[in-house]
Amino acid sequence: MKVLVVGGGGREHAIVWKLSQSRLVDKIYCCPGNAGIAALAECIDVSHNDFSALLDFVKYEWIDLTIVGPEDPLSRGIVDLFEKEGRRILGPTKAAAQLESSKVFCKDLMKTYGIPSAEYKVFTSYLHAEEHIRFKGTPIVIKADGLAAGKGVFIPSTLDEAIDALRLIMKEKIFGPAGDRVVVEECLKGEEASFMAFTDGDTIVPMVSSQDHKRIFDNDEGPNTGGMGAYSPAPVLTGDLEKIAIEKIMRPTIKALRDQGIPYKGILYAGLMIDKGVPYVLEYNCRLGDPETQPVLSRLKTDFMEIAMAITDRRLGDVSIEWKKDPAVCVVLSSKGYPGNYRKGDTITGIDQANSIEGVHVFHAGTSFRDSAVVTSGGRVLGVTATGEDIASAKKKAYDAVGKIHFDGMHFRKDIADRALTR
Ligand code: AMP
Ligand code: GLY
Repeated sequence: MKVLVVGGGGREHAIVWKLSQSRLVDKIYCCPGNAGIAALAECIDVSHNDFSALLDFVKYEWIDLTIVGPEDPLSRGIVDLFEKEGRRILGPTKAAAQLESSKVFCKDLMKTYGIPSAEYKVFTSYLHAEEHIRFKGTPIVIKADGLAAGKGVFIPSTLDEAIDALRLIMKEKIFGPAGDRVVVEECLKGEEASFMAFTDGDTIVPMVSSQDHKRIFDNDEGPNTGGMGAYSPAPVLTGDLEKIAIEKIMRPTIKALRDQGIPYKGILYAGLMIDKGVPYVLEYNCRLGDPETQPVLSRLKTDFMEIAMAITDRRLGDVSIEWKKDPAVCVVLSSKGYPGNYRKGDTITGIDQANSIEGVHVFHAGTSFRDSAVVTSGGRVLGVTATGEDIASAKKKAYDAVGKIHFDGMHFRKDIADRALTR
């Protein structure tokens, strides 16, 4: 079969890499892809938001399945369009993707159906929101309603910072219409974990757990990023907690959507906060996490194409999904300046040497070719991922591999997976 993967980051490289091992897949295309993906798939220079070009391509090339990586095309209805045209595509519809694209929709749904999450209020008026924030004081969490590339959540430590955040979202509209409404919510304490599952709308099959590292600097300091590293499994999510998360969180969420006439299929990602053994939902994502996918798919034994086909056929219950025992750790290498303005075009060396270490796979994110050299072209550049017999050995291999790679201005965190080791 022929598959098209939409996107061009580390997550999409991991998806393409898994598909390249599938006995069901003859040819992989990726729009737009990156320098690493180009070794496994034919990269087509089409943006993930150019739906008509993507649809033309799928028709012209007789693509059997399209897999969507990022949230943007999902929230803009790529699945609705492809399905209307009779094309097989993995991901939720626009209505279902509201779970990620509207924090108000998500919070209201969780409240109505008793799914554990932080207390909140929604505001469309700046004045009322300010009054509420002054009344509640800090710590408090302020969220723009719509998609903001992972930057729409503020956790101010002072009242001045809180008012400033509100002004940026609602008055200066730094996220555009995504800031027409805000959610102001209680600040939860505890440890975070990422819990992703495959679902066809009926059957829910959890993936192995993982933990992201959102801040740019060691010890969770500095601004939030898309994610600077991840490891799997996350020991905080014990087997018992996973069961609770499925029964009290995932299953009721899918059912709640179904009750509202919105079937959900694809990947459901719950960002959880675990406080004193109780999981709360911080957010939902309607797609695989980045960089969590890199360690998680590194541990997947089952053919990813078989899972994807089963989801789109609504027979996920027929597939037995198996995982490797060995943990995996992914360290993200980023460009100087990220998550602010960053440099591009620096030559990267040492990727082959890193890949030659047993159990290591370097996933590309923001990379491209200049002549025949691989150069940086994004904020997050590479995700150096290693599996090992325990988290400590996976971590050591990942950092040994990082030591082989160089580009000017290269930045990475040195404490990825330390939390799992110091528990
Ligand atoms: P979100 O985009 O909603 O996942 O939020 C991004 C990050 O903000 C999360 O991964 C948490 O670290 C943090 N966060 C979001 N909501 C809360 C909350 N209610 N309490 C504490 N931290 C939060
Ligand atoms: N790493 C967090 C996310 O994918 O949203």
